[in-house]
Order: sequence, then C-alpha cells, then structure tokens
Amino acid sequence: MTAHWTPSGWRNFPVRQMPDYPDRDELKDVEDRLHTCPPLVFAGEARSLKQALARTARGEAFLLQGGDCAESFAEFHPDTIRDTFRVLLQMAVVLTFGASLPIVKVGRMAGQFAKPRSAPVEVQGDVELPSYRGDIINAIGFSEDDRRPDPQRMLQAYHQAASTLNLLRAFAQGGFADLQRVSSWNNDFVADSPQGHRYAEMAERIQEALSFMNACGLTPENVPQMRETDFYTSHEALLLPYEESMTRIDSTTGGWYDTSAHMLWVGDRTRQSDHAHVEFLRGVNNPLGIKCGPSLEADDLLRLLDILNPDNEAGRITLITRMGAGQAGNHLPGLIRQVEREGRIVIWSCDPMHGNTIKAATGYKTRPFDRILAEVREVFAIHRSEGTHAGGVHFEMTGRDVTECIGGAQAISDDDLSDRYHTHCDPRLNASQALELAFLIAEQLRTEREQTVRAVAAE
Ligand code: PEP
Ligand code: CO
Repeated sequence: MTAHWTPSGWRNFPVRQMPDYPDRDELKDVEDRLHTCPPLVFAGEARSLKQALARTARGEAFLLQGGDCAESFAEFHPDTIRDTFRVLLQMAVVLTFGASLPIVKVGRMAGQFAKPRSAPVEVQGDVELPSYRGDIINAIGFSEDDRRPDPQRMLQAYHQAASTLNLLRAFAQGGFADLQRVSSWNNDFVADSPQGHRYAEMAERIQEALSFMNACGLTPENVPQMRETDFYTSHEALLLPYEESMTRIDSTTGGWYDTSAHMLWVGDRTRQSDHAHVEFLRGVNNPLGIKCGPSLEADDLLRLLDILNPDNEAGRITLITRMGAGQAGNHLPGLIRQVEREGRIVIWSCDPMHGNTIKAATGYKTRPFDRILAEVREVFAIHRSEGTHAGGVHFEMTGRDVTECIGGAQAISDDDLSDRYHTHCDPRLNASQALELAFLIAEQLRTEREQTVRAVAAE
C-alpha cells in the first residue's frame, strides 16, 4: 500500500532544480487557475499505455520515445509538430518491419518544457544571471528580465501543450497515420539521402503487402490498426507546481493521475529517493521513467523501485539508461543483475543522447552521431549477454533539417553546426539521422530475435 500521499506532499521534502519565483502570490494564483483547467490526457489513456508497456517489459513490443530536448514557445508551429510526428512514424515503421514487433510510440512532446541545469547561474563577461530553465520557467535571452522566473509561463505552456496534443491526436487518428500513406511520410530533405532511398524501398514492400491484404478483404475500413495509430506524450516531471496542479483523481478508479502527460519521468539530477520529485511521482498512477546515469548505484535503484513501484506492477517503470559510449559496460550490467536478481519488472530503454554531449571546437554543444550509435550497440550487446530484453530507445530529435549533432550520412561537421543550430537546450538528431538510427536499431532487434529463436530451438 502507498503510504499517505497528497499531490502537494512533495512540498515537505528537500527539492532540487526548482526556480525561485519572486512573487509567491502570483505563483499561487497561476496554480489555482491551472487546477481548474481541463486535463490534457485521460487516466484511461495512461492505463492503455501502461498495458502496452507491460507487453514491452515481457519482450512482446518495443518502446520508441523521442522528441525535443526542450519545446519552445518560439518554435511552436504546426509544421514542426507534423515533421517530428512524421519522423517518429517513419522510425516506427522501420522498427516494426525490421523487427516484427509492435512499437509503442511516445513523444517527448506536448509538455516537455522544463530543463534541469548543471549550474544555477550563467556568467557572460562580468554579468551573472539565473540559468535558463526552459520556456515554462524563464526566457532564453540573457537579460535580467528574461531570466526572472515568471509563473504566467506555466499557463502559456499548458495552452501550447493542449494545442500540440490536439494536433497529435488528429494526426494519429485522422488519416495522416494511415499505413496506405507510408511512402508519403518520406520527408523532402531526407528522401534524397541513402536512408531516404532505403526507406522508399521498404515502403514499396509494405505497399505490396497492403495490396495483398486488401485483395484478401483486410482494408483500412475494417482493420482500424491500418488507418490509425496510438501515440502518447511524455515529459520530465520537473516543475512540480505545474505537475501538482495538473494532478486529478480519476473517477473510474479513484486513483491519482498527473494529467499533464501519459508518461512522466524523473531526471538524472532529481532522482534522490528522499527528495521531492520522487515523493511526488510515487503517488501518481501514470507509467513512469527513471533516468539512470553513471552515478546511480544498484542499491539506490532498488530503493527507487521500492518507492515508485512497491507492487512490482508491469509497465509502471521504464529505466532509461544514459551512460555514454564506452561507459555502459562499466555500469549497466551491475544494475541489470541486481534488478533481475530481485525479480523487478522493468523496461530497459536506452537513451544514447545524454551521456554523449561534448563541446565542439567551434563552441557549440553537440553529440557525435557515431558515439550515439556506439552506445546503442553496446547496450544491445549487454542485454544480449545478460539475457534481458533491450525494450526501448529514448532520443532527442526533430523532424526538421537542423545541424546540431555531428556525423551521420550527411557528414555534418563542426563547421556546419552554425548553419541550422536551433535547439533551446541539447543538440537533437535531425530527421535523416533519426531514420539512420532506426535502421540500426531494427538490425539490433533482429539479431536479438534470432538469438532468442536459436536459444528456444536448442532447449
Ligand atoms: C533530458 O532528458 O533532457 C535530461 C535532462 O536528461 P537527464 O536527466 O538524463 O540528464
Ligand atoms: Co536533453
């Protein structure tokens, strides 16, 4: 049983990464207004996602989670949402086709606004100001006005999340995701690249299969899975006043749900088991992610699992490991063995982004594409040798043609970074790099499957 819990109970715990709002009354006023705003997602949808994740934990599905590092007010545009959604669909098709597994699609979208920072202040010349913490908290410009935490931004973030989600629901259910349109998802600037061609070939084979199915009487009219898809949202549950205000009792089950997104995760910097973020998350019934960086000890992880999933419910917890290329071998096997020994049901997801951030000679924060690929390969190999299922991936990506991560088939170099570097926080994969990665993961999943088939045959 969950020990006594309320949505505001986290306020009695030490908290990290929280902005210091200068006007407490204004903050309270915004919280009260958010309390009366309609939920963004429904508890029943969060439960459907949990069921899909329970299947993922059993190795019957694969989780694809991705989107912006930080959504921004300035980049809010229907085309941006469409392009990211489209690349996620393309990646999902590559993975489904390559690995013969259903893909659970979760966007870092419609609410991914708040950012943890390594330093509370930023210094430029002899000016020191509070760090930028994401558009839901302050502005990215470097002035006192920009950096002052402004509670009104929570309302703007809520409304942007609501419109984004509205469009995502329309894309997922309204015809855009119809499998018959699989060829049209090839993004203009990707279509001419090697992975664009590879995708086009695969799409042709899918079209053939669909024509065959149509001839057999299986059509989008009588098989809804062919014309629509399930798409879920997620973000880091960092700004607790916002998350608390969006937390409601589900009338069907009487349980609490954070209705700001289907899935929430706790970041690598705020996952202390005796602190506020974990206290908040333990009481909401949404599926949860835990970011697992190199500093996480196996004992701490088990304590977190005790607190966040005392009943060992399947689909409740996704462990998002982000160790860095060359580091996974030192940290991941220890975590896997302990979790397996204790019989804890989790999904092992790989975030190959956050352990691979470097500063380019040109001063830009970037991520080398080959290090991202290397971590994915290492993590899959570790799961193969530990006998666990690599259950998902977690990316920072966009459907736009940005130049933020170096390498990939387009061979983006240090010097190219300044061309289209638009991120408000960490460097993201562009559509072409994201698709390239999907093909690699499909290969890894096929290898995992072949190994399982061989093992079963040898029994
Ligand atoms: C993130 O996912 O944007 C993030 C800050 O990750 P982490 O908590 O793993 O550093
Ligand atoms: Co990030």
